[in-house]
Amino acid sequence: MDVKPESLHWKDAYKLMIGSILPRPIAFVSTIDEKGAVNLAPFSFFTAISAEPMMICVSPMRKGTDGSKKDTLLNIEKTKEFVINIVSEQIAEQMNRCAGDFDPEVDEFVQSGLTKEKSKSVVPPRVKESLVHLECELHDVLHFGEKAGSGSLVIGKVKHIHVDDALFYEGKIDSEQLKPIGRLAGHMYTKPMTDTFEIIRR
Ligand SMILES: Cc1cc2nc3c(=O)[nH]c(=O)nc-3n(C[C@H](O)[C@H](O)[C@H](O)COP(=O)(O)O)c2cc1C
Repeated sequence: MDVKPESLHWKDAYKLMIGSILPRPIAFVSTIDEKGAVNLAPFSFFTAISAEPMMICVSPMRKGTDGSKKDTLLNIEKTKEFVINIVSEQIAEQMNRCAGDFDPEVDEFVQSGLTKEKSKSVVPPRVKESLVHLECELHDVLHFGEKAGSGSLVIGKVKHIHVDDALFYEGKIDSEQLKPIGRLAGHMYTKPMTDTFEIIRR
């Protein structure tokens, strides 16, 4: 099979992306709007960019229903801050509950039963049950269209990092204890720390 992406419906292009770019880490993003309504949602189009300065990015797509912006993007554009909460196996179900298309005033912390914890350098709260938090300020947003399925690249500068002391040893995170989950295609996930192998770089 070979094809030009322009010839595909966005849903078919999306299926090719999520079936080939995997496993993907999950950014569980907490944000707040200008009136103080809190939002929490997962995004697997997420990665690291730079260590000095520490920069990360996450890409919400426009809604498949009407091409409107998701609450996470709207809030980040308004208040310029967000927190990336890392998703461990223990909170996988709660994370999934936060992916529902709730009205902007609905607090997904309440919907999922997760606990708000005050952040140190930004206003949006962190997820207490997450073992790693990256408190971020917005650096830039790039938009790649306004249709259903169009993505926006949100680039964040990390202002504050929290790592649970139980996982932190000699400057490193014990990923076995973190138990992160990865997103595959469809409704499938993976536990990346359960089947690992080493290749020494010479
Ligand atoms: C594990 C997981 C990963 C997701 N990744 C993305 C993503 O990368 N981009 C996206 O637009 N939506 C993604 N979604 C769907 C959003 O979480 C969903 O649209 C959510 O309602 C957005 O919430 P918001 O409107 O409060 O921002 C994902 C859902 C799940 C469960």
